[in-house]
Amino acid sequence: MRLLLLTSLLSLALAALASPIAQQQQQPAKARAAASDKVGYFFVHFHDDYKSPGDYSTYPAGEQVFGQLSNGNNAISYTALKGGAPLLTSTVGTKGVRDMYLVSKPDESQHYIIATDLNQTAVGGFGGKFLSRSLVIWDSEGPSLTKWKAPRLVEVVPPEFRMAWAPEAMWIEERKSFMVYWSSNKYADASHSGTPDYDKIYRAYTTDFRSFTQPEVYIDLGAGTGVIDLTMHPTGQGNQYVRFFKDESVSKCRGQVSNSGIDGQWNDIGSAKEYVDNNNQSEACLFFKDNLSDKWWVFLDQYGRNPPGYYPYTADKGITQYGYTDLGFPPGMPKLLKHGAVKPVNQAQYDEIKAAWG
Ligand SMILES: *[C@@H]1O[C@H](CO)[C@@H](O)[C@H](O)[C@H]1NC(C)=O
Repeated sequence: MRLLLLTSLLSLALAALASPIAQQQQQPAKARAAASDKVGYFFVHFHDDYKSPGDYSTYPAGEQVFGQLSNGNNAISYTALKGGAPLLTSTVGTKGVRDMYLVSKPDESQHYIIATDLNQTAVGGFGGKFLSRSLVIWDSEGPSLTKWKAPRLVEVVPPEFRMAWAPEAMWIEERKSFMVYWSSNKYADASHSGTPDYDKIYRAYTTDFRSFTQPEVYIDLGAGTGVIDLTMHPTGQGNQYVRFFKDESVSKCRGQVSNSGIDGQWNDIGSAKEYVDNNNQSEACLFFKDNLSDKWWVFLDQYGRNPPGYYPYTADKGITQYGYTDLGFPPGMPKLLKHGAVKPVNQAQYDEIKAAWG
């Protein structure tokens, strides 16, 4: 009797130990996707031309943090938050921000918005010799996605650098820190005489978005191929990661995949001459998995298309294979959105955003 009980307890315990792994391996993809707790998407972005909500005439006030909330769990249908007014306004540095990214701790207990410090009108465009070497950073109040502390400027590159633009970050579990990466070029010295070198992606690590390790080169594709606007995510398959960036030799976005982590061997998706869209120039690529299926989305800012701004594409063969469909503007897809980030949100987060800003 006692032995029987012990044996059955033991087998129960063994089954409990084994089942999560077995489930992960055997569960069909659909069931896995359906188990997601994500009910929608929070899209933060800026506008190039913006005067007031709904008025997109040329005016520099669009260089702030704006937001959209998905209509239900639909990745390509959104409603502008706060009636189209900025959610957050930079009060530091050049007092304008572009290229914002929203990154969260893995347990969703803390979020950060990091952005390029750039008010183009104030600094005279993109071409200046001395541009911001600091990121603009907002910390959330705990797990809230609608309450943010005052922004701060944090310098991430030394004086010989011309700028640090288009920052993004990713949690690295092994280091228990965020890897932050951005685009820079630099001069020979701090006086910025002569001409700067070409664009590369630099990275540094941080645990608090206040102190950063020394920057180091993360992607250097050589002098003929400047690279900016890196975006990167794990795919959920082993140690596999996918990244997209703007290849400045052609001003188009392309992707790479690594099966061996962020410092592993990166292979081009398709080839180095195949772009998400071969016909239109693009930048500020972003991508994410659909909350309800195994479909992946790639959004490109096609600044030469009419209207300019993000256009959604589907990655038809999965995010690691070449093949995309241009969806144009499906009903509900907002126009004139510039470099930002899409964060899948859970029910509590969706409800909080809707209540505060919807
Ligand atoms: C950028 O600077 C210009 C000129 O100083 C100013 O008019 C404009 O409002 C600023 N933009 C933002 C978003 O604050």
